Amino acid sequence: MTALIITESYFGNTAAIGDAIAQALADSGVLTVEAFGVADAPASLPAGAQLLILAAPTHDYSLPCRRTRAQARRRAGHRDGDFGLREWIAAAQSAPDVKVVTVDTAFNSGFLPSSAAKTAARLMSRAGFADVQRGATFCVADSTGPLDDGELIRARAWATSLAAGLRSLAGRRPAAGGRVDARYNRQRGPVNEAGAAAGASTDAAG
Ligand SMILES: Cc1cc2nc3c(=O)[nH]c(=O)nc-3n(C[C@H](O)[C@H](O)[C@H](O)COP(=O)(O)O)c2cc1C
Repeated sequence: MTALIITESYFGNTAAIGDAIAQALADSGVLTVEAFGVADAPASLPAGAQLLILAAPTHDYSLPCRRTRAQARRRAGHRDGDFGLREWIAAAQSAPDVKVVTVDTAFNSGFLPSSAAKTAARLMSRAGFADVQRGATFCVADSTGPLDDGELIRARAWATSLAAGLRSLAGRRPAAGGRVDARYNRQRGPVNEAGAAAGASTDAAG
């Protein structure tokens, strides 16, 4: 099985969550994982893709838009172009057989009327994806991070449990271990929970 994970991130927090999820999915042995920063993600999903995970930071209770992205980019000191998951979804070709799960990062406010993951799930359903599920929210302490303690561990556990569900659907036993093929050509912020980068065996550049 192949999974794609596409992340949008300005300060590195959502990217770190994406890495943790990608590695846990690969470690489950059920999936080979292709991980992309959104600017480098293919518009159409490769044949054979069965799982698509979209990960984005929550901006103004929603997916980042041009205005909020500009604010985040200014704070992060990025100069990269204006393309995020919102735009990726708008251009995506629907693939009804692909299971889509959306996750996000947000403040640990206790109350989120909406979030990037919720908006992404709604837009993906509208775009014609039939099996769309809103996944977890992972918490940051401030706009720039860091992730709250334990969030990378929680992300790995969340992804392991997702993979276990897929394994039982496929009626498979775990193979010897999957692989993460990561493509991040854009600048990413620092990974800010000890062990995230060290624990991942990705070959992400940048
Ligand atoms: C312009 C802007 C708006 C934001 N709005 C919200 C919000 O409505 N709710 C929330 O919980 N966090 C909000 N945040 C915090 C982001 O969720 C946080 O920056 C993000 O999780 C960090 O992820 P990243 O490092 O991947 O960019 C906002 C951040 C920015 C820059």
